Amino acid sequence: MITGASSGIGEALARELVAEGYRVALLARRLEQIADLADELGNAALAIRTDVTDRESIVAAAARVQHELGGADVLVNNAGVMLTAPFGSEKRSEHRQMVETNLLGAMTVTEVFLDQLRAKNGDLVNISSVAGRVAPAGFAAYSATSGGSTAGRRRFASSSSPTSA
Ligand SMILES: NC(=O)c1ccc[n+]([C@@H]2O[C@H](COP(=O)([O-])OP(=O)(O)OC[C@H]3O[C@@H](n4cnc5c(N)ncnc54)[C@H](OP(=O)(O)O)[C@@H]3O)[C@@H](O)[C@H]2O)c1
Repeated sequence: MITGASSGIGEALARELVAEGYRVALLARRLEQIADLADELGNAALAIRTDVTDRESIVAAAARVQHELGGADVLVNNAGVMLTAPFGSEKRSEHRQMVETNLLGAMTVTEVFLDQLRAKNGDLVNISSVAGRVAPAGFAAYSATSGGSTAGRRRFASSSSPTSA
């Protein structure tokens, strides 16, 4: 299960995992990109249009993953946006988009897929950024989402859940 599989790190990771023998669910909003990638990867890949800011679309994706792949045993929370600018009110919609995608989106995807991961003693991977530890100029909001994601993942890893993170 890879969120944000339509470009960049998520797309590259999908290719690597299929080469390693995994079957992958490709999640993103741009269906054409993930459908093309799934065609290229053959039977090993399933493209599912999903918006990580929309819980209903995540729940629908989880149902398809359960039905068509037998559940998820690795979840890679990779979907994210990085919109950098000096911090100010005029950028508040970008701040909200980053929190809703990078932080709340990853938390919601994890929460929705948790039962599938637990059933398979699976793994959780959160892609965040070094910007969560050091905040260069213009990165205040992005760094907040990245640091929050890393902190949450640490807590998750040390919880009593059988799932590793
Ligand atoms: N590139 C870097 O140097 C770098 C460094 C540190 C961390 N990161 C992190 O690594 C991750 C991937 O970055 P990238 O560089 O590969 O960027 P990218 O090419 O822009 O990919 C971002 C992915 O996130 C998806 N996405 C964005 N909003 C979404 C939403 N609401 N619902 C579902 N999917 C959504 C996009 O798909 P759609 O638009 O099709 O939905 C796209 O597939 C991000 O979390 C980023 O913060 C990147």
